[in-house]
Amino acid sequence: MGYLLVEGGRPLSGRIAVEGAKNAALPACVASLLTDGPIVLHRIPQLRDVSTILFTIGELGKRVIRNGPDLLIAGAPLSFEANPYSVSQMRASFLVLGPLVARFGRAVVPLPGGCSIGPRPVDLHLKGLQALGARVEERDGAVAVMADRLRGCRIELPFPSVGATEQLLMVASLADGETEIANGAIEPEVIDLVSLLRKMGSNVEIDGRTFRIEGRISLSGAEHTLIPDRMEAGTLLLAGAITGGEVTVEGVEPGHLEAFLEALSASGLTIGEGDGELTVVPRGRPEPVEVKTGPHPGFPTDLHPPLAAYLSVGRGTSRVTEGVFERRFTYVDGLRSMGAQIAVSGRTGSITGVKRLRGSSLVAPDIRAGAALLLAGLAAEGETRVSGLEQIDRGYAGIEDKLSRLGAKVERTND
Ligand code: UD1
Repeated sequence: MGYLLVEGGRPLSGRIAVEGAKNAALPACVASLLTDGPIVLHRIPQLRDVSTILFTIGELGKRVIRNGPDLLIAGAPLSFEANPYSVSQMRASFLVLGPLVARFGRAVVPLPGGCSIGPRPVDLHLKGLQALGARVEERDGAVAVMADRLRGCRIELPFPSVGATEQLLMVASLADGETEIANGAIEPEVIDLVSLLRKMGSNVEIDGRTFRIEGRISLSGAEHTLIPDRMEAGTLLLAGAITGGEVTVEGVEPGHLEAFLEALSASGLTIGEGDGELTVVPRGRPEPVEVKTGPHPGFPTDLHPPLAAYLSVGRGTSRVTEGVFERRFTYVDGLRSMGAQIAVSGRTGSITGVKRLRGSSLVAPDIRAGAALLLAGLAAEGETRVSGLEQIDRGYAGIEDKLSRLGAKVERTND
């Protein structure tokens, strides 16, 4: 699938616009299954994961017309069985389960694949569906769910899972009566799904982590513009920071990145905030910080690996504790091969900064670890080769073009 060849050591600088959020695009596309009406989405990023979800809903009978960042999804879903290939490619495809049950009274969806970052069960999705009155059976690596009627109820999630909250918000929108989801996820991407569902006619109220949904008999088409991708914004800001350059990201929502920006400030960066834009101004090597990832508004787990890359060229010893995924540390071996000093104990990584990383040949293990290795390559002495681009391309659109526009020397080779 080719590789990115990076010649490190050049400070990046300039301005760059971010895409619409991948993690908002995926549930928005799935929500189209809840209606036969047209769903028009704007600011759709050109990503592999988006192509995967569009393939999935296309296989279910939806008509999909894509024109750059604009997307029209129309027509009735025709099948209640999801394509095994697409679900094996990406965990978020599992979100089709609830909407299919809500529309057909039954659904068959394979258990998900996707990023290899620890066991990521779907028990909370299934328990929620059961609470709403569905019967769940597991056979041959797939789940079969049946429900004559879905009845609103109270569901308390033991952990504010993003996917489970989204799944249940969609199902509850077509269930009988009121559903209350307590301890739900309030990531900006979940709130963006709520905005779309409201435009489709769903009545959703949010109070802290509690969602109250008054079910409807049917939902209508709607038009919606996705929120900006805070993970891409954070990664590009770190690309500036790790190379000692001044980078501005445009079209962002600074309020979505508060915990991340706090960590950057603590590391000694000056952060400029304008109207929908953020700038980082580095002042020497990063100071050590202590960060723990957690559900929003905590530090986002997806920015843990890119942050770790940045801290690996810092002054003292930083600590990053992973509070969401057990196996987030897939970037560690790659960074170590570049000279980084990282010790992992349990869920905490201790990163002792080194003056300089050196170029290496690496494989991206998953989306965000891939981004971390790429960032390290930008700062390293000599050449870095990052392969496994099918992972990076899942979450970053045209990353080499964006980095090149900021002054990086990055080339894609499609060998
Ligand atoms: C979403 C994001 C992903 C992000 C994550 C956490 C999308 C497409 N992906 O993933 O980029 O890193 O949120 O912010 O939006 N869990 C269970 N049982 C369940 C569901 C989850 O135990 O039924 C656990 C998982 O194993 C994991 C944790 O909860 O340890 C977080 O998962 P969840 O919030 O559901 O993440 P995703 O929706 O998969």
